[in-house]
Amino acid sequence: MTIPEAEERQTPYGWPEERQPAQGTRAGDRRSDLPGLTPGAFTPESARKDFPILHRTVNGHPLVWLDNAATTQKPRQVIEALAGYYSAANSNIHRGAHTMAREATDLYEAGRAAVADFLGAPSPDSVVFVRGTTEAVNLVAQSWGRARLGPGDDILVPVLEHHSNIVPWQLLAKETRARVVPVPLLADGQIDQDAYADLLSSRTRLVAVSQASNVLGTVPPVREMTALAHRYGAKVLVDGAQAVAHLPVDVTDLDADFYAFSGHKLYAPTGIGALYVKPEVLAGLRPWQGGGNMIDSVSFDRTTFAPAPHLLEAGTGHIAGVAGLLAALNWFTSFDLTAVAAYEEALTAYARQAMGKVPGLEILGSAPGRIAVLTFTVAGRDPAEIASWLDQEGIAVRAGHHCAQPALAHYGLTAAARASFALYNTPEEVDRLVASLLALDGSD
Ligand code: ALA
Repeated sequence: MTIPEAEERQTPYGWPEERQPAQGTRAGDRRSDLPGLTPGAFTPESARKDFPILHRTVNGHPLVWLDNAATTQKPRQVIEALAGYYSAANSNIHRGAHTMAREATDLYEAGRAAVADFLGAPSPDSVVFVRGTTEAVNLVAQSWGRARLGPGDDILVPVLEHHSNIVPWQLLAKETRARVVPVPLLADGQIDQDAYADLLSSRTRLVAVSQASNVLGTVPPVREMTALAHRYGAKVLVDGAQAVAHLPVDVTDLDADFYAFSGHKLYAPTGIGALYVKPEVLAGLRPWQGGGNMIDSVSFDRTTFAPAPHLLEAGTGHIAGVAGLLAALNWFTSFDLTAVAAYEEALTAYARQAMGKVPGLEILGSAPGRIAVLTFTVAGRDPAEIASWLDQEGIAVRAGHHCAQPALAHYGLTAAARASFALYNTPEEVDRLVASLLALDGSD
């Protein structure tokens, strides 16, 4: 890792313009030959070159990273932002204490503003920093749900949800004697919208739904589902963990009450994420953790609290993580994201068609408009065996229940393998995946 000299830096935590990636396609990039892509479209090489890790080998083969739904790799801009922060700007954030504290505070708040901008949120004050999506969902359960839910209340949760958008609601329901009501799926992996409409009632307090499924790739009609839930006075939490790297996000257009995402699935570090809360809902949230940073004044007689979002950020936050998240957002949004989405769609279609050549391979979910996730089984093969065979070839896929056991159970499965793609994956990598899967057939 190269850490630039201090004089090269624009700010203690920012990086000079020439180190930033250019907009869209970059000169000299090799064009990927995928059907449906027009000249001038995004090319993966324009992103790939920023990822040192993609140039390593695994088990003697060049790495093919197809575990992007679990976590994305990090561009050097993010790695350098972390190193730069700790090398030159580390301080806790207490505005007014000293110069470096002010700089760190400015960085933290610049990160908040960048997240608000990225999500289409009305104001940075509606963004709470959290460890990731899981913590965001737990925050909403405790800070919003605990005081509002009671016996006879319903929380609607589609069957395709990740465990992190199921279990916190089960815990809350147990505490408040509310009910978690599963919304069934159709055979193709879409949420059954008729069943959803039937399940909504005046008892529904919350709908918790992903903008994109981590196992089926399904993209539910969240905007329409939200509008319907609001007619019953229910709030809607949208889990954006899998969506943010693949789909345009506009929380205002979605009219979401809560929107959660994890930085590490968006090219940023682990341990940092954000929760958007609609301003009128945020005003009614209670503290969920007590400590420093979230108070106005403390005495043994009476403690008063800081306004949100600080109210919900007790203790020292992941300041370096915010520096990394800011760098990741700057990096990611420097591309033409419509072209990126078109590229990922073409790559996934290519992979789906190429994987069809593998005897006995079946892909779960066939809903239209899915994200770049292909979860599959191969007849007669344990998913763990498939993942370990591919690993020997330097290809990383995930195998198991993908933290979505009810979604797999919908297909009568307890485990499956999953290839998930990012903007830096190439058709050549898909070809390597398919060649290795074909070789598995003759490996006994
Ligand atoms: N939620 C992550 C996944 O789907 C961990 O792999």
